[in-house]
Amino acid sequence: MAAADVARQMTEGARNLSLSGHVGFDSMPDQLVNKSVCQGFCFNILCVGETGLGKSTLMDTLFNTRFEGDPAAHNQPGVHIKSNSYELQESSVCLKLSIINSVGFGDQINKEESYKSIVEFIDTQFEAYLQEELKIKRTLHNYHDSRIHVCLYFIAPTGHSLKSLDLVTMKKLDSKVNIIPIIAKADSISKNELQKFKIKIMSELVSNGVQIYQFPTDDETVAEINGTMNAHLPFAVVGSTEEIKIGNKMMKARQYPWGTVQVENENHCDFVKLREMLIRVNMEDLREQTHARHYELYRRCKLEEMGFKDTDPDNKPFSLQETYEAKRNEFLGELQKKEEEMRQMFVMRVKEKESELKEAEKELHDKFDRLKKLHQDEKKKLEDKKKSLDDEINAFKQRKTAAELLQSQAQQSGSQQTLKREKERKNFF
Ligand code: GTP
Ligand code: MG
Repeated sequence: MAAADVARQMTEGARNLSLSGHVGFDSMPDQLVNKSVCQGFCFNILCVGETGLGKSTLMDTLFNTRFEGDPAAHNQPGVHIKSNSYELQESSVCLKLSIINSVGFGDQINKEESYKSIVEFIDTQFEAYLQEELKIKRTLHNYHDSRIHVCLYFIAPTGHSLKSLDLVTMKKLDSKVNIIPIIAKADSISKNELQKFKIKIMSELVSNGVQIYQFPTDDETVAEINGTMNAHLPFAVVGSTEEIKIGNKMMKARQYPWGTVQVENENHCDFVKLREMLIRVNMEDLREQTHARHYELYRRCKLEEMGFKDTDPDNKPFSLQETYEAKRNEFLGELQKKEEEMRQMFVMRVKEKESELKEAEKELHDKFDRLKKLHQDEKKKLEDKKKSLDDEINAFKQRKTAAELLQSQAQQSGSQQTLKREKERKNFF
């Protein structure tokens, strides 16, 4: 019998019994609280919105502190994600808070890819958690959870409508994270315009099928307040860390020549509503929804992509072992196929190289033969030339000897004639 069936039978067949005295398991909720307080809590907020919309100021105002957030540069080639983590303490409760910023969002001329790095970042955090879950030795109890629990989407207070960048980004994010849309710098928009702007934004979100986070109404202790607050979305907020004395109290406010905007005055803006909903009432629900809804969807898609299913084609529970075996065989088959392909490719390449080498060898032989013949021809020509030169030299030598002979004969006869003439002359005198 499957483990799930056994568990169902155990709970279905449970009998109600009354206790005859105090046992003590009514302290379970306290034990849970103590354990949670001891472990501390973590909460990760993603701020998405165009540069300079007051994201850092709002975070400082919400948590009553000063996070080190330098203004972002406006000349980035793309959007990049910057995450800062802090530890905050309130009474005995420790909160590990991470504030993640989409730096450079909306700064580019082509904004088509703006959402990509945000989606990638969210998926990377889900993947890290999934990898931890799939480990043999898991340490989930002290795992630093970096999954995004809420995305505060800052809308520019234009008073007109949502920009396409806002709609595209929120649509891409809505299945991955709890989105709370907020109208930033709401002090720059009049009361009447603000009401119309809120209605316009909500109708645009609905008509484009963008799912934003709804404050839960299933828990009766918060159902009423959450129900009311759902109707106030998107919250129109003002941020300021500057404190001004109003009456005899110091209040966070923004001062203008024509008056003062009090951040925590509900007639001036929805800052208190946001703080109430985000931190004081629904922080745990946001964490839970992240795990139970968004992470679960990521996990399901990822495992299905890897070939895991709950049931086989016959609707029978799918065994992990069988899936593993099937995947392993599939993988081995593919590996063998790849090996065979590579082997054939190798043989083909060797053959190609061999024929190339043979061709080159033949060319070399031909060239050698040609050169050899050329050399023999040249040699023969030179030998012929040498022979004719030798003949010429011999003929020349013969001519030279004959000429010398003639010359000596001529000289001999010349001297005899001179002697004869000398004799005749002497005789004459
Ligand atoms: P980057 O990090 O550079 O994207 O900016 P940011 O969105 O963090 O804005 P930041 O908080 O640095 O504020 C930018 C400017 O807007 C500062 O001069 C703030 O004083 C001002 N500012 C912040 N919140 C508000 C607001 O609610 N209303 C008005 N009018 N100005 C605000
Ligand atoms: Mg900032």
